[in-house]
Amino acid sequence: MVNLIPAPRELRLTGGSGPFGGEVRTRVDSSLAPEAYELTVSHDGAHIVGGDEAGVFWGRQTLRQLLGPDAFRRAPIEREPVAVPYVEIRDAPRFAWRGFMLDVARHFLPKDDVLRYVDLLAAHKLNVFHLHLTDDQGWRIAIERYPRLVEVGAWRPRTRLGWGEPPLWDERPHGGFYTQDDLREIIAYAAERHVTVVPEIDLPGHSQAAIAAYPELGNTDVIDTAALEVWTEWGWSPHVLAPTDAVLRFYEGVLDEVLDVFPSRFIHIGGDECLKDQWRRSATAQARIKGLGLHDEDELQSWMIRHFDRWLTARGRRLIGWDEIVEGGLAEGAAVACWRWYTGGIAAAEAGHDVVMCPQQEVYLDHVQDPGADEPVPFGWVHTLEDVYRFEPVPPRLAGTPHAARVIGTQANLWTEVADSRARVDYQAFPRLAAFAEVAWSRLPDPDERDFGDFERRMNAAHYARLDAMGVAYRPPTGPHPWQRRPGIPGRMHHKPRRTWHMA
Ligand code: ACM
Repeated sequence: MVNLIPAPRELRLTGGSGPFGGEVRTRVDSSLAPEAYELTVSHDGAHIVGGDEAGVFWGRQTLRQLLGPDAFRRAPIEREPVAVPYVEIRDAPRFAWRGFMLDVARHFLPKDDVLRYVDLLAAHKLNVFHLHLTDDQGWRIAIERYPRLVEVGAWRPRTRLGWGEPPLWDERPHGGFYTQDDLREIIAYAAERHVTVVPEIDLPGHSQAAIAAYPELGNTDVIDTAALEVWTEWGWSPHVLAPTDAVLRFYEGVLDEVLDVFPSRFIHIGGDECLKDQWRRSATAQARIKGLGLHDEDELQSWMIRHFDRWLTARGRRLIGWDEIVEGGLAEGAAVACWRWYTGGIAAAEAGHDVVMCPQQEVYLDHVQDPGADEPVPFGWVHTLEDVYRFEPVPPRLAGTPHAARVIGTQANLWTEVADSRARVDYQAFPRLAAFAEVAWSRLPDPDERDFGDFERRMNAAHYARLDAMGVAYRPPTGPHPWQRRPGIPGRMHHKPRRTWHMA
C-alpha cells in the first residue's frame, strides 16, 4: 500500500518490497520539467532523477514518505529496517506557485517556529512561504534606517482575546521582530529546501504600527497622528498612509533594505482593505488627486501601487498585491493575489496579469474547520478538510481558455488574530494544509468528482502518523483535544454559500 500526499501523477508498483539501506542515487536531467522528478525504488536502492535540484528534492520527500512515519522524526529511532515498496513514480507539480501565507504581524511567531514551518512546507512540496510582516498591530522586520519601526512598532501593550463584545483582553504586552540576519537565516534555510520566502510590506492600509512609530507617515492634516499607538483592536484601522512624496521616499527606504535581504523575484506590497475616509477629508490627499488628474481615492491608491510597481521593476523584481490593486487600474507588471471570491483574479488573468488564487471563501486557514461548539475561537466561514480538498484554483470561467495559464498558482492563508501561538497555528493549518498541498501539486478532477474518501484513507493510513512524527498539533478528525479548546474566548462566524467555484 502506498499512501502519498500529495498524490503523484504516475505511480507503478513494480512488485515486492525490501529493507531500505539508505542508498539514494540522484541526478539532474534538464529534459524533465522544472521541479519534476522520477523516483525508482528497487532491490538496488532508490534512484531519483530531477528536472532540476528542486525536482531531486521533491523526489526525496516522496522517498521519505515511502520510508514510513518515523522518517519524519528529527533523528532515527531504533527499529528494524523498514521495508520499502518497489515503485516507479513520475511526478511534476501542476502549479509553479504553491504557497502558504503566515501572518506574523498580528501574533509574532519566533524564528525557530518559522524555521519549523519551512520544514513543514517542504515536506508537503509547497514552495512559497509568504510572510505577512507588517500590519496595524505590529511591524516585524528591523529596518536599519528607521529603527523606531521595531522599537515602537514591534509591540503592543495588550491584545484583544477573540472578537466578542464587550472586549476581553490579555493584559500581557505582546511583540517581537526579526533582525535582518534572522530573515537571511530563514531565507537560506528555506532555499536549501527549495522554498522561496516572499515578504509582504503592507501599504497604504494596515499601516498603523508604522504610523505609531513615525507619525509623519499618517494623514496629519486630518488627525493627530502623534497620539496614535500600535493598534490593539482587530479589523480595519482607519489610520492609513498619507499619499505624499515623503511617504513614497520612506517606503522606498524600507524596500531598499527588504530587497537587500530577500532575493525573491516577487515582493508583496499588500494593498488590501485601505479605508479611504482620511483621504476624503485630507486637503493634502485631495490636492494630490487634483494635481495628478485622478478621479477618486481608488485611483489615488492605484497611483501609489503603480509607483512601487515601477520602482520594483526597475530593480529586477515584480510586485504582487492583494486583489484590491485591480481597483482604480492595475499596475503594468503587477501580479494579483486574489482573496475575495475569484473575481479580481479572473479580471486580472483576462487582462493578462499573473494570478495566485487564494480566495478567503475557500482557503483561509484561520477560518474554522468544523461547525461544532468545541472549535477554538471559531472565526470566519467553515472550511472543512473536505472543502479544502475540493478547492479548485482555476475557476470555470478561465478553465480551457488561454487565460488559465495566468493562474500561476495558489496559496492558503493563515491570519493570526485568533491564532496566538505555534500550537494554535498548527491546529488551524493542519490537516487542511495537507489537502491544500495535494490541490496545489496534483492535477485533480473537478471539485465534485474528487475522491475525498481516498484522500481521507491516505490521511488515516499514513499522513496523520507523519504529522505526529513531526510534532504537529493538528486538529484530530474527531475534534479538538481538550487542551486544544479555548472555552470562554468568543469568535465571529460568517455564513457562506457552499463551494464558490461553481459560481465563478
Ligand atoms: C486580506 O485577507 N485582507 C488579504
